[in-house]
Amino acid sequence: MEATRPKQEAVLDADYDVEAVRAAFPALQQDLYDDQPLVYLDNAATTQKPQAVIDRLTGYYTRENANVHRGVHFLSQQASDAYEAVRERMADFIGAPEAGGRPAHEQIVYTRGTTEAINLVAATWGRAELQEGDEVLLSQMEHHSNIVPWQRICEETGAQIKIIPVTDRGELVFEAFEKRLSERTKLVAVTHVSNALGTINPVEEIVRAAHEAGAKVLVDGAQSVPHLPVDVEALGADFFCFSGHKMYGPTGIGVLYGRRRLLDAMPPYQGGGDMIDEVSFEDTTYAEVPHKFEAGTPNISSVIALGAAAAWLKEQGRPRVRRHEKALLEYATERVREIDDIRLVGTAREKASVLSFLLGDVHPYDAGTVLDRMGVAVRTGHHCAQPLMEHFSIPGTVRASLACYNDRSDVDRLVEGLRKVRRMFG
Ligand code: ALA
Repeated sequence: MEATRPKQEAVLDADYDVEAVRAAFPALQQDLYDDQPLVYLDNAATTQKPQAVIDRLTGYYTRENANVHRGVHFLSQQASDAYEAVRERMADFIGAPEAGGRPAHEQIVYTRGTTEAINLVAATWGRAELQEGDEVLLSQMEHHSNIVPWQRICEETGAQIKIIPVTDRGELVFEAFEKRLSERTKLVAVTHVSNALGTINPVEEIVRAAHEAGAKVLVDGAQSVPHLPVDVEALGADFFCFSGHKMYGPTGIGVLYGRRRLLDAMPPYQGGGDMIDEVSFEDTTYAEVPHKFEAGTPNISSVIALGAAAAWLKEQGRPRVRRHEKALLEYATERVREIDDIRLVGTAREKASVLSFLLGDVHPYDAGTVLDRMGVAVRTGHHCAQPLMEHFSIPGTVRASLACYNDRSDVDRLVEGLRKVRRMFG
């Protein structure tokens, strides 16, 4: 059904045609509950997909489907070429540097997503490198996916987890981080942008301090790659991971970037086809990176569509997308502050795309349900960041998260919905 949306009152950035961007997303052109135009503000959970990505996915299955690295036939070779070409595109997309005379894209490992990428590093690098007396430093604002894999590997190896605290604004306490760094610290694992608060962490400074202490750094880029221009070489991260589905690509695909010499030294993750050099019952040798980490038939269609998503996002101009989303977040922050009894959770000076809040005593779930009936999609709950919620002594929040296709009218509908929540729950 055709949605009827109000026209933008004023453009946020004359250089950015949000109406045209939005028109590329078929899912956004619908009404829910018969007559409520969809206002999609759950982008930190997953983004909608532009037609170009959908077409690439269906095009692959319509004409190009074949397994990779296995066939001499035309379709297999074509699929292998497309699959490997995306590796180069993703290396370029995050600014991966060449390493030791080897091309940058050999440091791009395909995974199911950010979660699997972190699990891969924990299970390979972590198992090989950590031992009793070592420490892994995590921030209090980590997603469970950057906590639990480290807990599991620490239990196994005898290493310990230390926590970098956050302030009531939701910023890392940098001095506390520096104090906790020592020769025992083997890894610092931090999120680039908090999924629950939107805080942008000072990753370059974190990396610098960690490296001075001799520690490696893993950066969870799941919430930064879709919203900020990212350059892993400038950040200096040893490992950087992100998911396709939060950057307008398909689910079930993600990327782990790792420094070549670290990847080379790491044992394989899973065993199976495609990750070997030679197999015998006596002795098996492994393929070079990145294939060493990609056992079994991979998610070929999603890799290819991820390439289309990266190309699409690049075409929009990532600095322009950042400017648009930043201005929209400022507008949204001002607008929700108009509502009685609103409590913003996460007011860091540097933020990206996330507005988390509580509305008086109203349970986030009740607020989310009322908003949903008005066609406004938000996420409610602890956002897989329970230790962070504990810091704020709250069970959860309502989270509106923005993307490149949102505009002021979306924010206005959110505010209208919140006023209704206020009226209903007193
Ligand atoms: N990590 C995703 C979120 O924050 C699922 O919603």
